This record gives sequence, structure tokens and C-alpha cells, in this order.
Amino acid sequence: MNLTALTKIILFIACFVFARPVLSQQRNQNLIKTGFNLAQQQYHHMLENSPDLSMYPRTTAKDGSLRYVNIWDWTGGFWPGDLWYVYEYTKDTVWKKQSIKWTESLEKNKFNTSNHDLGFMMYCSYGNAYRLTGNENYKDVLIQSAKSLCKRYNPKIGSIESWNSRLSWDGKTMWHYPVIIDNMMNLELLFFASRVTGDRTYRNIAIKHAENTMRDHIRPDYSTYHVVNYDTLSGKVLNRQTCQGYSDNSTWARGQAWAIYGFTMVYRETKDPKFLKTAIHLADFYLKNKNFPEDKIPYWDFNVNENGFHPDWKYDPSAYKVVPRDASAAAIVSSALLELSKYAGKKGEGYKLNAVQMLNSLSSSVYMAKPGTNNDFLIKHCTGSFPHGEEIDVPLVYADYYYLEALLRLKDN
Ligand code: GLY
Repeated sequence: MNLTALTKIILFIACFVFARPVLSQQRNQNLIKTGFNLAQQQYHHMLENSPDLSMYPRTTAKDGSLRYVNIWDWTGGFWPGDLWYVYEYTKDTVWKKQSIKWTESLEKNKFNTSNHDLGFMMYCSYGNAYRLTGNENYKDVLIQSAKSLCKRYNPKIGSIESWNSRLSWDGKTMWHYPVIIDNMMNLELLFFASRVTGDRTYRNIAIKHAENTMRDHIRPDYSTYHVVNYDTLSGKVLNRQTCQGYSDNSTWARGQAWAIYGFTMVYRETKDPKFLKTAIHLADFYLKNKNFPEDKIPYWDFNVNENGFHPDWKYDPSAYKVVPRDASAAAIVSSALLELSKYAGKKGEGYKLNAVQMLNSLSSSVYMAKPGTNNDFLIKHCTGSFPHGEEIDVPLVYADYYYLEALLRLKDN
């Protein structure tokens, strides 16, 4: 081999080794830019069409129109959260003004003790508001919200009650003290409250809740139950069921997504390795599942139409030729994996790669709206609750929220 040939080979290898990360960084920057450009266009229209601060955009209704909800809905915090993320990216005060308006009109919820969703409602709105402005009034609202959330904690059970007592989906079981996997997401508000007040009560409640969820909602293979119902006298588990999943023993895609995100966040706040191990196993169940599609956007439940899984609701498989996806779960998981990638040692690179693949799918024309369509939301093909026949193959305001959050995490990754 002469020197010129050797030099060429060395140059080729050097280009491959050094240029590849630069190119992939460039591709990621383009992905982020495209997402936020679309967000600015879509949300500009959304704001023009939605002047009433008591009507929060949530999804597309059955008649195709934009469906709004009032300030008490569990999704209220996501619209201001979307606007805060656009402000964070653009630094344009026009977005800041809008974010403040839509955040502040949620304030009455600081005294809301009717459900567990206060974390979603207040931390996605006021949490981002405080982080990006430092306004002390927002901190006070968040502390009061954390106090309200803690009113739903029962020390005998060691968990925060998600919903008030109600009948199960098939009407056969009374859920006295239902705790759902989604509730992991509300704990971030409690960790915040301890950090800013120095009072460890909030944090202790969050940790106990997370430990119980680890014990009671997670199966040996690290798939998750949606609903666990407890006996209020003994504190023991009475039932493990579902409300939004396919069957009691199936894995509802968004439930698994909340779990991956939730345990990653609890690890960030506690640095307790048991939570990291749990987050990693939950993520691996999701990513390695034989029913996980190639484009990495999950079916609404991992076990739809599978033997051994029996819905206890009226399910007609012929009504859907293809099983609907839930792009909202993909958005949540992509954001979670970008955080998990920083804690997971050697596995981190793989989680980041998966997250980027998910974001590429979500940003493709299959899942990403064309400007002026999709009722001005960004992400298409989400499922709210299939068993209830609600929000199937629609945009959902929280899919947009976690998608934008993931893009910002990718920017800083
Ligand atoms: N927390 C409600 C949901 O994920 O649909």
C-alpha cells in the first residue's frame, strides 16, 4: 500500500468518526427548528381563534371542531405549558404575555382537592412560569397547589388518591381508593414544594407514593397496571384493573409512558438507584416489546387483539381495520428517554437514539400537521380513551406539550 492510499483511508475514517456526530447534531437542530416554526404558526392561529381565557384548547371534537375545556379539566395546564415552551425557544415577549395570561387564569385550582391532577394542571403551567420568570407569586401558587394535592394523601395506604371512589369500568367493582399510574406525574409538584420551602413533608409523600406504585402497579415483567384499588381500612390492594387500557392485564401505552417519565423524574429528585432501575426496566419493556411498531409510535395499548387479553367493555374489533396509535404516548416517552439517557450509563446512548427516532417519526408528515390543519395542534393520531370511544385518532394538547419539551431537551442534550 502506498502512502497516498493509506492517507486516503485515514482521512475517510477520520471523516466518518468526526463528521458523523456533527451531521447528526445538525439534523437534530433542524428537527428542533422545524417543530418550533410549526408551533409558532399553529399557535398564532389558535390564539387568534381562542380569546376566551376560560376555554382551554384540548383536542378535536367528534364534529371536527376544536374542543375546549374549562379551567377545572385535567389538561388545563398544557396549553399555557405549550406557550411557555415556545417562549423559551423564541425568547419573544409576545409569547410570554400569552403564556402569563393563560397561566394566571388557572389560579383558582390552587385550592382544588377534587382529584390528583393538580400536578399536571399547575406544574405544567405555573411550574414553567416560575422557572422562566422567577415571579415569587407563582411560587406561592405552586406551594398552595402542593398543599391541596397532599390533602388527597392517606398515610394508612401511603398513596395519593387519584379519583374519588367510583365504579370500575365494567360497573362490577367499587373502587374505594383508586390510584392510577398517571399519578406518578403529579409528584414533581411535591418535590418542587419541598425544595422551595425546606419542608420535607411534600417530598416524603412523593417518595412513599412512588415506592407504593413500584410495589403495586408494576408487574414482574415491568409492564404496568393502570388502576390499583386499595382498602381504606387495611391499606391493602383490593383490585388491579384498567380504565383506559384494553384489559386489566394489558399494558396501556400512555400508562407505561407516564410510568417511564414518572420514575425517571423521581430518580432525578431522589438519586435513589431503585427508581433508576425501575425507570430503565419500564423503558426496556416498552422499547423491546414485540408489538412495538417500527416507526416507534405505539398502538394505544400493547396487547390489542392478543390472545389472553379480554376487554370487559363493549369492543368491536371490526370497527377499526388498523389498530389506532397513540402519538401522545410517543411524545411523553421521547421526552422521558432524553432525560433517562443522562442517568443510564452505557444504555444512555441507546435511549437517546430511540428518542430521536420517535421525534423524527412525530415530525414526519404522517404525524405532524400541515400548517393551518389539525385545529392548530401539532401532533396527529393520538388516542385519549379508546374504551370510552373518546378522542380516537385526534390531536391532544398534551402530545404537543411533551413533544415540545422533548425538542427543548434535545437542544440541551
Ligand atoms: N391522566 C389521563 C390520561 O392520561 O388520559
